[in-house]
Amino acid sequence: MFAECHFRAGRGNPRAWAHGNIADGGSTEYQRGDAARARGRGCCTWKGAAVARVELDGVGKRYPNGFEAVQAFSIDIQPGEFIVLVGPSGCGKSTTLRMVAGLESISTGELRIGDRRVNEAPPKDRDVAMVFQSYALYPHMTAFENMAFGLKLKKVPAAEIDRRVREVAAQLDITELLDRKPKQMSGGQRQRIAIGRAIVRAPKVFLFDEPLSNLDAKLRLQMRVELSKLHRALGATSLYVTHDQVEAMTLADRIVLLKGGVVQQIGPPLTLYNAPANAFVASFIGSPSMNLVPATLGEGGVQGAGFVFPRAAGAGAAGQAVLLGVRPEHLSLSVAGEGDLSATVEVVEPMGDESFVYCRREDGLWVVKTRGVVPPRPGDAVHLTVDRSRLHVFDAATEARL
Ligand SMILES: Nc1ncnc2c1ncn2[C@@H]1O[C@H](COP(=O)(O)OP(=O)(O)OP(=O)(O)O)[C@@H](O)[C@H]1O
Ligand SMILES: [Mg+2]
Repeated sequence: MFAECHFRAGRGNPRAWAHGNIADGGSTEYQRGDAARARGRGCCTWKGAAVARVELDGVGKRYPNGFEAVQAFSIDIQPGEFIVLVGPSGCGKSTTLRMVAGLESISTGELRIGDRRVNEAPPKDRDVAMVFQSYALYPHMTAFENMAFGLKLKKVPAAEIDRRVREVAAQLDITELLDRKPKQMSGGQRQRIAIGRAIVRAPKVFLFDEPLSNLDAKLRLQMRVELSKLHRALGATSLYVTHDQVEAMTLADRIVLLKGGVVQQIGPPLTLYNAPANAFVASFIGSPSMNLVPATLGEGGVQGAGFVFPRAAGAGAAGQAVLLGVRPEHLSLSVAGEGDLSATVEVVEPMGDESFVYCRREDGLWVVKTRGVVPPRPGDAVHLTVDRSRLHVFDAATEARL
């Protein structure tokens, strides 16, 4: 059974769907995947469906009004990889996804899915399924009919549609919703139907555009965990857009951070956290944001307002103007006693298990993440101690990591 083999067999059972995927333009999902596997490149099989490699080679988008929304975006996404696109509003995340889906034309560069150039291919020939923030369910259809719609268009026999929809529904725990129309369901339930609709099609690539952002915080967390489990079970190549850096950190094999249509860094979540390529990445990843203060490279290390921190390695010349970066969690705070930096508490945000303490110094506002202890109060004089092994240094002009 579909649901069973997904969960039990993980990525390894290419024949499980072999008998099921039929009438798909003359070639079954299984045959397509099998042929690609035989060629030994581009695709690998996923329970009888193909899981594709996706390559963006200098892909760019210039809208008719001349605005360049995405510039020379290159990434080689391996079959089964989960890629998360993050970045501020308007940075080109949805545009990139829509170009991969075929909903937006590509202005420059080449897009390959499973080693085939698809720049000119219509969406239906790309074998991708997209899940939107808005669910985009047909309001007059039941959940079952919504999930079945794409398969019906492909002329999959009714009995086969019924089998696939029910198996996916069982997997997503939405069987009892199948007879309901969208307006009779909550946001979270609708989003499950939308995800189920994508899964039944067994696409080569899943595209998600902020699928959880309409949900409340608790449901978001629950769906995030479920998506993660689902991805492990399906092993399908996925491109996932989000504003939420927790989603990005927890779901991604690799994160792509975009700013103004330009890729800032591509890497595993912890690489972006531990070694951000520039000050923008440094302040985008992590919450509260990394403290960044002006400093200068000198003989003794990085020196700034009342501090000199030795620096073991790194680029840069003596006298160079830099930004020193210290994450709030790499600072400790004491009221009495000593520290590297003296400061005055301005604002305290208690979060329950931890507190964010905003401290004023002559070089700016430093935020410290503290746990357990009773936080100080606004106006208190405090001392901050810096974890010297976790310092970040960026060029002040280019903001590149040194
Ligand atoms: N049809 C269009 N014509 C001109 N500019 C457009 C068009 N569609 C989008 N843009 C612009 O392209 C940029 C990228 O838009 P896009 O929708 O990809 O951003 P996004 O990263 O998905 O943002 P958000 O997080 O707000 O969804 C934005 O500045 C947007 O205003
Ligand atoms: Mg968007």
